[in-house]
Amino acid sequence: MKKILITGALGQIGSELTSYMRDIYGINNVIASGRRTPKGSKVVEDGIFELINTDDVNQIINVVKKHKVDTIIHLAAILSAVGEANPIKAWEVNVGSLLSVLEIARTYDCSVFTPSSIAVFGDYSQKFKTPQDEVQKPATMYGITKSSGELLCDYYFKRFGVDTRGIRFPGLISYETLPGGGTTDYAVHIYYEALKNKKYTSFIKEGTYMDMMYMPDALNAIVEVMETDPGKLIHRNAFNVTSMSFAPEHIAQEIKKHIPEFEITYDIDPIRQAIAESWPDFLDDTAAREEWGWNPKYDLKSMTKDMLAKLKEKIKAIN
Ligand code: SER
Repeated sequence: MKKILITGALGQIGSELTSYMRDIYGINNVIASGRRTPKGSKVVEDGIFELINTDDVNQIINVVKKHKVDTIIHLAAILSAVGEANPIKAWEVNVGSLLSVLEIARTYDCSVFTPSSIAVFGDYSQKFKTPQDEVQKPATMYGITKSSGELLCDYYFKRFGVDTRGIRFPGLISYETLPGGGTTDYAVHIYYEALKNKKYTSFIKEGTYMDMMYMPDALNAIVEVMETDPGKLIHRNAFNVTSMSFAPEHIAQEIKKHIPEFEITYDIDPIRQAIAESWPDFLDDTAAREEWGWNPKYDLKSMTKDMLAKLKEKIKAIN
Protein backbone atom coordinates (compact mmCIF):
# COMPACT_ATOMS: atom_id res chain seq x y z
CA MET A 1 0.00 0.00 0.00
CA LYS A 2 1.21 3.51 -0.85
CA LYS A 3 2.23 6.05 1.85
CA ILE A 4 1.09 9.36 0.48
CA LEU A 5 2.04 12.87 1.56
CA ILE A 6 -0.27 15.65 0.36
CA THR A 7 1.09 19.22 0.54
CA GLY A 8 -1.36 22.11 0.39
CA ALA A 9 -4.01 19.77 1.79
CA LEU A 10 -6.14 22.66 3.08
CA GLY A 11 -6.53 24.18 -0.41
CA GLN A 12 -9.29 23.75 -2.99
CA ILE A 13 -8.05 20.42 -4.38
CA GLY A 14 -6.34 19.16 -1.21
CA SER A 15 -9.32 19.47 1.09
CA GLU A 16 -11.28 17.04 -1.09
CA LEU A 17 -8.41 14.87 -2.33
CA THR A 18 -7.40 14.09 1.27
CA SER A 19 -10.74 12.45 2.17
CA TYR A 20 -10.96 10.82 -1.26
CA MET A 21 -7.51 9.23 -0.85
CA ARG A 22 -8.08 8.32 2.81
CA ASP A 23 -11.11 6.30 1.64
CA ILE A 24 -9.10 4.55 -1.09
CA TYR A 25 -5.71 4.00 0.57
CA GLY A 26 -6.67 3.91 4.26
CA ILE A 27 -6.62 6.54 6.97
CA ASN A 28 -3.06 5.68 8.09
CA ASN A 29 -1.58 5.84 4.60
CA VAL A 30 -2.44 9.45 3.75
CA ILE A 31 -0.51 12.23 5.47
CA ALA A 32 -2.16 15.58 4.93
CA SER A 33 -0.11 18.72 5.47
CA GLY A 34 -0.53 22.47 5.46
CA ARG A 35 0.65 25.65 7.11
CA ARG A 36 -2.25 26.02 9.57
CA THR A 37 -4.44 23.83 11.74
CA PRO A 38 -7.91 25.35 11.32
CA LYS A 39 -10.46 24.24 13.93
CA GLY A 40 -13.20 21.94 12.67
CA SER A 41 -11.28 21.01 9.50
CA LYS A 42 -11.91 17.40 8.40
CA VAL A 43 -8.43 17.37 6.82
CA VAL A 44 -6.83 18.13 10.20
CA GLU A 45 -9.14 16.16 12.46
CA ASP A 46 -10.14 13.01 10.54
CA GLY A 47 -6.66 11.52 10.00
CA ILE A 48 -2.93 12.20 10.08
CA PHE A 49 -2.02 15.86 9.66
CA GLU A 50 1.44 17.50 9.79
CA LEU A 51 2.30 21.19 9.80
CA ILE A 52 4.56 21.89 6.81
CA ASN A 53 5.64 25.20 5.33
CA THR A 54 6.94 24.06 1.93
CA ASP A 55 9.43 26.99 1.86
CA ASP A 56 11.41 24.97 4.41
CA VAL A 57 12.81 21.83 2.77
CA ASN A 58 13.68 20.29 6.16
CA GLN A 59 10.07 20.34 7.26
CA ILE A 60 9.15 18.25 4.20
CA ILE A 61 12.11 15.87 4.69
CA ASN A 62 11.20 15.26 8.35
CA VAL A 63 7.66 14.24 7.48
CA VAL A 64 8.78 12.03 4.56
CA LYS A 65 11.22 10.21 6.88
CA LYS A 66 8.85 10.02 9.86
CA HIS A 67 6.04 8.39 7.85
CA LYS A 68 8.19 6.51 5.28
CA VAL A 69 6.39 8.36 2.49
CA ASP A 70 6.71 6.91 -1.04
CA THR A 71 4.33 9.19 -2.96
CA ILE A 72 4.15 12.99 -2.80
CA ILE A 73 1.10 14.84 -4.11
CA HIS A 74 2.44 18.37 -4.23
CA LEU A 75 -0.48 20.80 -4.33
CA ALA A 76 0.90 23.84 -2.46
CA ALA A 77 0.85 26.67 -5.03
CA ILE A 78 -0.24 30.22 -5.80
CA LEU A 79 -2.94 30.70 -8.49
CA SER A 80 -2.96 33.03 -11.49
CA ALA A 81 -4.55 36.28 -10.25
CA VAL A 82 -2.65 36.24 -6.93
CA GLY A 83 0.50 35.38 -8.90
CA GLU A 84 0.10 38.52 -11.04
CA ALA A 85 -0.20 40.61 -7.84
CA ASN A 86 3.01 39.06 -6.47
CA PRO A 87 5.03 37.41 -9.25
CA ILE A 88 8.24 36.85 -7.22
CA LYS A 89 6.32 35.07 -4.48
CA ALA A 90 4.54 32.96 -7.12
CA TRP A 91 7.90 31.88 -8.56
CA GLU A 92 9.34 31.11 -5.12
CA VAL A 93 6.35 29.08 -3.96
CA ASN A 94 5.45 27.31 -7.20
CA VAL A 95 8.92 26.54 -8.56
CA GLY A 96 11.00 26.64 -5.36
CA SER A 97 8.83 24.20 -3.44
CA LEU A 98 8.48 21.88 -6.44
CA LEU A 99 12.26 21.70 -6.83
CA SER A 100 12.57 20.83 -3.13
CA VAL A 101 9.94 18.10 -3.53
CA LEU A 102 11.70 16.66 -6.60
CA GLU A 103 15.05 16.56 -4.80
CA ILE A 104 13.43 14.85 -1.82
CA ALA A 105 11.73 12.39 -4.17
CA ARG A 106 15.09 11.57 -5.79
CA THR A 107 16.77 11.07 -2.40
CA TYR A 108 13.99 9.10 -0.68
CA ASP A 109 12.69 7.25 -3.74
CA CYS A 110 9.20 8.76 -3.97
CA SER A 111 6.89 9.26 -6.92
CA VAL A 112 5.49 12.75 -7.45
CA PHE A 113 2.23 14.16 -8.74
CA THR A 114 1.89 17.90 -9.21
CA PRO A 115 -0.89 19.73 -11.02
CA SER A 116 -0.08 21.82 -14.05
CA SER A 117 -2.63 24.09 -15.69
CA ILE A 118 -4.22 25.41 -18.89
CA ALA A 119 -2.14 28.49 -17.95
CA VAL A 120 0.98 26.93 -19.51
CA PHE A 121 -0.48 27.96 -22.88
CA GLY A 122 -0.31 31.50 -24.22
CA ASP A 123 -0.89 33.69 -27.23
CA TYR A 124 1.17 31.46 -29.54
CA SER A 125 -0.79 28.31 -28.68
CA GLN A 126 -3.65 27.00 -30.79
CA LYS A 127 -6.85 28.16 -29.02
CA PHE A 128 -9.31 25.50 -30.10
CA LYS A 129 -8.50 21.82 -29.65
CA THR A 130 -5.14 22.90 -28.17
CA PRO A 131 -2.83 19.92 -28.82
CA GLN A 132 -1.05 17.97 -26.07
CA ASP A 133 2.38 18.88 -27.46
CA GLU A 134 2.02 22.55 -28.31
CA VAL A 135 4.06 25.76 -28.14
CA GLN A 136 3.53 27.18 -24.63
CA LYS A 137 4.98 30.71 -24.12
CA PRO A 138 2.66 31.59 -21.19
CA ALA A 139 1.89 35.27 -20.56
CA THR A 140 1.44 35.09 -16.76
CA MET A 141 3.90 34.35 -13.96
CA TYR A 142 1.57 31.53 -12.86
CA GLY A 143 1.80 30.01 -16.34
CA ILE A 144 5.57 30.46 -16.39
CA THR A 145 5.86 28.61 -13.05
CA LYS A 146 3.62 25.76 -14.26
CA SER A 147 5.43 25.45 -17.59
CA SER A 148 8.80 25.43 -15.76
CA GLY A 149 7.36 22.88 -13.33
CA GLU A 150 6.48 20.55 -16.22
CA LEU A 151 10.04 20.80 -17.56
CA LEU A 152 11.52 20.14 -14.11
CA CYS A 153 9.31 17.11 -13.56
CA ASP A 154 10.21 15.65 -16.96
CA TYR A 155 13.88 16.39 -16.26
CA TYR A 156 13.80 14.51 -12.94
CA PHE A 157 12.12 11.58 -14.67
CA LYS A 158 14.56 11.40 -17.58
CA ARG A 159 17.75 12.29 -15.69
CA PHE A 160 17.15 10.55 -12.34
CA GLY A 161 14.28 8.14 -12.97
CA VAL A 162 11.91 9.84 -10.52
CA ASP A 163 8.35 8.72 -11.33
CA THR A 164 6.75 12.12 -11.98
CA ARG A 165 3.26 12.57 -13.43
CA GLY A 166 1.09 15.62 -13.94
CA ILE A 167 -2.18 16.93 -15.31
CA ARG A 168 -2.96 20.32 -16.86
CA PHE A 169 -6.11 21.16 -14.94
CA PRO A 170 -8.65 23.61 -16.28
CA GLY A 171 -10.81 25.71 -13.93
CA LEU A 172 -11.92 23.45 -11.09
CA ILE A 173 -15.43 23.87 -9.75
CA SER A 174 -16.21 22.65 -6.23
CA TYR A 175 -18.35 23.43 -3.18
CA GLU A 176 -16.10 22.29 -0.30
CA THR A 177 -13.28 24.90 -0.33
CA LEU A 178 -13.06 28.09 -2.40
CA PRO A 179 -10.21 28.47 -4.90
CA GLY A 180 -7.48 30.85 -3.77
CA GLY A 181 -7.39 33.66 -6.32
CA GLY A 182 -7.51 32.25 -9.84
CA THR A 183 -9.02 33.51 -13.10
CA THR A 184 -11.54 30.68 -13.46
CA ASP A 185 -12.91 31.37 -9.93
CA TYR A 186 -15.94 33.19 -11.38
CA ALA A 187 -17.37 29.78 -12.29
CA VAL A 188 -17.34 28.83 -8.58
CA HIS A 189 -18.49 32.19 -7.14
CA ILE A 190 -21.47 32.29 -9.51
CA TYR A 191 -23.09 29.27 -7.81
CA TYR A 192 -22.70 30.74 -4.28
CA GLU A 193 -24.16 34.08 -5.41
CA ALA A 194 -26.98 32.41 -7.35
CA LEU A 195 -28.17 30.69 -4.19
CA LYS A 196 -27.60 33.65 -1.86
CA ASN A 197 -28.62 36.66 -4.00
CA LYS A 198 -30.06 35.27 -7.26
CA LYS A 199 -27.61 37.45 -9.18
CA TYR A 200 -23.91 37.56 -10.01
CA THR A 201 -21.55 40.18 -11.43
CA SER A 202 -18.93 38.44 -13.54
CA PHE A 203 -15.38 39.78 -13.79
CA ILE A 204 -14.95 37.76 -17.00
CA LYS A 205 -16.53 39.04 -20.23
CA GLU A 206 -19.43 37.39 -22.06
CA GLY A 207 -18.13 35.14 -24.85
CA THR A 208 -14.86 34.23 -23.08
CA TYR A 209 -14.50 30.47 -23.31
CA MET A 210 -12.34 28.46 -20.88
CA ASP A 211 -12.04 24.77 -20.06
CA MET A 212 -13.62 23.68 -16.77
CA MET A 213 -14.03 20.54 -14.67
CA TYR A 214 -16.12 19.44 -11.67
CA MET A 215 -14.00 18.39 -8.69
CA PRO A 216 -15.11 14.69 -8.55
CA ASP A 217 -13.65 14.21 -12.04
CA ALA A 218 -10.41 15.97 -11.01
CA LEU A 219 -9.97 13.73 -7.94
CA ASN A 220 -10.56 10.64 -10.03
CA ALA A 221 -8.06 11.89 -12.65
CA ILE A 222 -5.28 12.26 -10.06
CA VAL A 223 -5.76 8.71 -8.74
CA GLU A 224 -6.12 7.26 -12.25
CA VAL A 225 -2.96 8.86 -13.66
CA MET A 226 -0.95 7.82 -10.57
CA GLU A 227 -2.24 4.22 -10.72
CA THR A 228 -1.54 3.73 -14.44
CA ASP A 229 1.10 1.19 -15.41
CA PRO A 230 4.14 3.35 -16.35
CA GLY A 231 4.61 1.30 -19.54
CA LYS A 232 1.40 2.85 -20.91
CA LEU A 233 2.56 6.45 -20.48
CA ILE A 234 4.08 8.18 -23.49
CA HIS A 235 3.64 11.59 -21.85
CA ARG A 236 4.14 12.46 -18.18
CA ASN A 237 4.27 16.19 -17.47
CA ALA A 238 1.65 17.07 -18.05
CA PHE A 239 -1.56 15.76 -19.65
CA ASN A 240 -4.25 17.99 -21.18
CA VAL A 241 -7.62 17.19 -19.60
CA THR A 242 -10.99 18.86 -19.95
CA SER A 243 -14.61 18.09 -19.15
CA MET A 244 -16.37 21.09 -20.69
CA SER A 245 -15.72 24.48 -22.22
CA PHE A 246 -18.09 27.41 -21.67
CA ALA A 247 -18.35 31.19 -21.34
CA PRO A 248 -20.06 33.02 -18.41
CA GLU A 249 -23.43 33.34 -20.21
CA HIS A 250 -23.63 29.54 -20.64
CA ILE A 251 -23.24 28.77 -16.94
CA ALA A 252 -25.80 31.55 -16.22
CA GLN A 253 -28.29 29.95 -18.66
CA GLU A 254 -27.84 26.59 -16.95
CA ILE A 255 -28.35 28.10 -13.46
CA LYS A 256 -31.53 29.84 -14.72
CA LYS A 257 -33.06 26.42 -15.38
CA HIS A 258 -32.95 25.85 -11.59
CA ILE A 259 -33.32 29.47 -10.37
CA PRO A 260 -35.42 31.28 -13.04
CA GLU A 261 -34.96 34.74 -11.42
CA PHE A 262 -31.14 34.46 -11.67
CA GLU A 263 -29.46 37.34 -13.52
CA ILE A 264 -25.85 37.79 -14.62
CA THR A 265 -24.26 41.23 -15.10
CA TYR A 266 -20.68 42.12 -16.01
CA ASP A 267 -17.99 44.30 -14.42
CA ILE A 268 -14.80 43.22 -16.16
CA ASP A 269 -11.49 42.94 -14.30
CA PRO A 270 -8.94 43.84 -17.01
CA ILE A 271 -6.16 41.74 -15.44
CA ARG A 272 -8.14 38.54 -15.17
CA GLN A 273 -9.81 39.15 -18.56
CA ALA A 274 -6.38 39.44 -20.21
CA ILE A 275 -5.28 36.23 -18.48
CA ALA A 276 -8.42 34.40 -19.66
CA GLU A 277 -7.93 35.61 -23.23
CA SER A 278 -4.36 34.28 -23.28
CA TRP A 279 -5.57 30.78 -22.33
CA PRO A 280 -7.07 28.12 -24.62
CA ASP A 281 -10.81 27.96 -25.34
CA PHE A 282 -10.86 24.19 -25.45
CA LEU A 283 -8.11 21.60 -24.98
CA ASP A 284 -7.58 18.41 -26.97
CA ASP A 285 -7.27 15.70 -24.29
CA THR A 286 -6.88 12.69 -26.59
CA ALA A 287 -3.49 11.71 -25.08
CA ALA A 288 -5.00 11.41 -21.57
CA ARG A 289 -7.92 9.40 -22.93
CA GLU A 290 -5.62 7.02 -24.81
CA GLU A 291 -2.76 6.66 -22.31
CA TRP A 292 -4.63 6.34 -19.00
CA GLY A 293 -8.32 6.18 -19.79
CA TRP A 294 -9.41 9.74 -18.91
CA ASN A 295 -13.18 9.85 -19.21
CA PRO A 296 -14.97 12.63 -17.29
CA LYS A 297 -18.46 12.00 -15.89
CA TYR A 298 -19.78 15.54 -15.48
CA ASP A 299 -20.82 18.09 -18.09
CA LEU A 300 -22.20 21.61 -17.48
CA LYS A 301 -25.75 20.33 -17.01
CA SER A 302 -25.02 17.52 -14.52
CA MET A 303 -22.42 19.61 -12.67
CA THR A 304 -24.84 22.53 -12.21
CA LYS A 305 -27.55 20.25 -10.84
CA ASP A 306 -25.18 18.61 -8.35
CA MET A 307 -23.34 21.81 -7.40
CA LEU A 308 -26.57 23.71 -6.59
CA ALA A 309 -27.96 20.81 -4.55
CA LYS A 310 -24.74 20.30 -2.54
CA LEU A 311 -24.19 24.00 -1.98
CA LYS A 312 -27.79 24.46 -0.81
CA GLU A 313 -27.24 21.76 1.83
CA LYS A 314 -23.96 23.37 2.88
CA ILE A 315 -25.46 26.87 3.22
CA LYS A 316 -28.41 25.42 5.21
CA ALA A 317 -26.03 23.63 7.60
CA ILE A 318 -24.06 26.84 8.25
CA ASN A 319 -27.17 29.00 8.92
N1 SER B 1 -7.81 27.76 -12.01
C1 SER B 1 -6.50 28.29 -12.26
C2 SER B 1 -6.49 29.77 -12.21
O1 SER B 1 -7.48 30.35 -12.62
C3 SER B 1 -6.01 27.81 -13.59
O2 SER B 1 -5.18 26.73 -13.42
O3 SER B 1 -5.54 30.35 -11.82
